[in-house]
Amino acid sequence: MRERDPRIVLGLHRSRYERRILTGALELGVDAIDTGFNYHGFSAHAALWAVGRDLLPHFKLSTKVGFFPAPGQAEHSLDPSRLREAMERTNYDLCRAPDLVFLHNPEQSLTGSSSAAQDKLGMACAALARATAEGLCGGWGISSWDPRLLPSLVDGTMPKPDVVMVRAGLTAGIDILEASEALAAGWDLGSSQLWGMSPFGGRATDPLWGKLDPRLFIQDPDESLSAVQAAFRTAYRLPRVGRIAVGTDNPPHLRELIAALRYEANADTLLTYRRLLRERTAHQPL
Ligand SMILES: NC(=O)c1ccc[n+]([C@@H]2O[C@H](COP(=O)([O-])OP(=O)(O)OC[C@H]3O[C@@H](n4cnc5c(N)ncnc54)[C@H](OP(=O)(O)O)[C@@H]3O)[C@@H](O)[C@H]2O)c1
Repeated sequence: MRERDPRIVLGLHRSRYERRILTGALELGVDAIDTGFNYHGFSAHAALWAVGRDLLPHFKLSTKVGFFPAPGQAEHSLDPSRLREAMERTNYDLCRAPDLVFLHNPEQSLTGSSSAAQDKLGMACAALARATAEGLCGGWGISSWDPRLLPSLVDGTMPKPDVVMVRAGLTAGIDILEASEALAAGWDLGSSQLWGMSPFGGRATDPLWGKLDPRLFIQDPDESLSAVQAAFRTAYRLPRVGRIAVGTDNPPHLRELIAALRYEANADTLLTYRRLLRERTAHQPL
């Protein structure tokens, strides 16, 4: 078994929830998994328990609430009683409390005026903070695919999360990167409290990687560094995050991602990249 590396969280959004994925991760020193109440057709927690009940105590486990089954189509909600119910159900299905529970894409439920949105988010955050105090989870956070609305809602009255998780890497636009940084600054979160997610935008085979060589963003790349590895390593700096939730059901792929961590991103090239992104946005027609 390899030494543990806390910088990688194995994301189970697209996973088949097979035991070998959990044993493979532990063998490689990855002992953090991220799942969701709605993942795997709303059965992710029960599936994890079914395939790996003896393995679960070895993992730090984060999950998400805020996306619920509904007639016709699943729906987002920040209703505190639904969040609470989902957390109780999560504890029941996993037979343990998760280490961290994220509010899942709260922006999807924040319609209406800014003060209405602030009240709604505040009540949802308070529900998660209360559940943490009562032992239903070890801590709480916010995971947001599109955090652009959120920084303006954070003031001294909004409960402060333990962790915020945002999109990271070369597929995240400058507006998303800057909103993520503003959100972390608004709550005064350190980089270990800001996690990245989806470093390949969900698809490591994206044609983007044929057009843009991510090795440009790495200091002293050598021939063994692949484009996928370079994109992954770069994601830790776009924005600067302490950990990244990345999805793979393939242990050799996970090994490649771990190997990428020995490289460093090139801060100067990244600054230029961000400047170019900003300029491009400024010149886009309204
Ligand atoms: N709003 C939210 O809260 C939210 C939204 C999205 C994601 N997330 C979190 O972020 C995690 C990751 O997101 P994601 O799965 O959407 O996207 P991702 O990590 O950007 O991409 C996953 C894809 O990359 C491939 N891959 C990974 N390593 C590879 C390698 N070394 N070589 C080739 N292909 C590789 C995987 O295929 P293989 O299986 O073939 O390796 C998989 O298809 C999720 O599981 C979840 O935990 C959260």
